[in-house]
Amino acid sequence: MTNAHSHPPVELELRPWSQDDFWVLGRTNTPEMTDHLGGPEDEAQLAARLLRYLTIDGDAGRMYTVRSRPDGEVVGSIGFWSRNWQGEDIYETGWGVLPEFQGRGIAALAARALIREAARLGSRAHLHAFPAVDHPASNAVCRKAGFTLLGECRFEYPKGTFIRSNDWVVDLPSAG
Ligand SMILES: CC(C)(COP(=O)(O)OP(=O)(O)OC[C@H]1O[C@@H](n2cnc3c(N)ncnc32)[C@H](O)[C@@H]1OP(=O)(O)O)[C@@H](O)C(=O)NCCC(=O)NCCS
Repeated sequence: MTNAHSHPPVELELRPWSQDDFWVLGRTNTPEMTDHLGGPEDEAQLAARLLRYLTIDGDAGRMYTVRSRPDGEVVGSIGFWSRNWQGEDIYETGWGVLPEFQGRGIAALAARALIREAARLGSRAHLHAFPAVDHPASNAVCRKAGFTLLGECRFEYPKGTFIRSNDWVVDLPSAG
């Protein structure tokens, strides 16, 4: 997959998260990168996050680094995980692109690849994203990646904090 922005075309791959990728969590745990995500996490929260990223698998979901090809350089992260939403078992997705690679269409391309991965690996019919209503970039990523806006919702993130989010959904065609 390649982007169609003014920057040189980028080809991406999603690579399942590995132990060596801990440093990526450090890069995405800055005030700038977590502005819409409740702010930076402490060491214990990051360690717990790494463990979740390394162990989530199969029908439960999967986490990936986003890498440019063919050099394999990390440009961001993305993934999908299961949750219950309004009585339905669904997948949720979330993404981050390192600041020096933002604005090139990478998040939207990665989200399209993630949709294919969730359809290939998972059993659930719908993938949702819940960007804050005041997060234009992430809402634009949903639109560009082919999600449909269902409307506004009250969304808990991080735990104990409720924000106004948009509920975006895309159908996951069964791979079979
Ligand atoms: C959200 C994020 C992933 C976008 O990554 P990106 O690779 O720069 O996004 P893209 O280049 O694919 O841009 C997608 C669209 O958002 C738009 N956009 C980007 N930044 C924007 C901004 N600050 N305000 C308005 N629109 C913006 C782009 O113009 C583009 O739309 P267009 O092609 O129609 O012009 C990135 O900003 C990020 O990692 N933020 C921190 C982590 C985060 O908030 N993650 C999302 C949690 S829900």
